[in-house]
Amino acid sequence: MNRKDFIKGSCGVCMALGSGFLMSAVLEACKTPLGVIKTAAKDNVVAIPLTEFAASDYKLVRLRNYDYDLAVQKNKDGTYETLVLMCTHASNPLTKTGNGYYCTLHGSAFDREGYVTKGPAEKNMIKLNTTIKNDQILIQLKQLS
Ligand code: FES
Repeated sequence: MNRKDFIKGSCGVCMALGSGFLMSAVLEACKTPLGVIKTAAKDNVVAIPLTEFAASDYKLVRLRNYDYDLAVQKNKDGTYETLVLMCTHASNPLTKTGNGYYCTLHGSAFDREGYVTKGPAEKNMIKLNTTIKNDQILIQLKQLS
């Protein structure tokens, strides 16, 4: 192998490794949709900095070791409320829609405030105690089931 072939081959390997690394970084970033906060609870409390809501009144929160995403939304009076994205019919995870939530299992629907708009679910979505302290939103988790 002469010098020219060696350089050509080396560059090809570097390009392949580099593009693979770039692709994995891009794919990793795609796993977390915009507006989703990934975090964990400590002592059954989730703390989210208020700055997360600087540009939006709504965030989805995905917790490690918790079966359902949370929807945290700022109310017009400046308070926050948190809904558990769990269908109250048979505990299926809910999907966010344009103006509420939808259950893909049997078709229940809930509005943005968590009220049932279409059965078979009869109970509204679960709300979690949500307070503000020291520039943080504190969400008290509860055991589901
Ligand atoms: S589990 Fe959601 S409608 Fe049945």
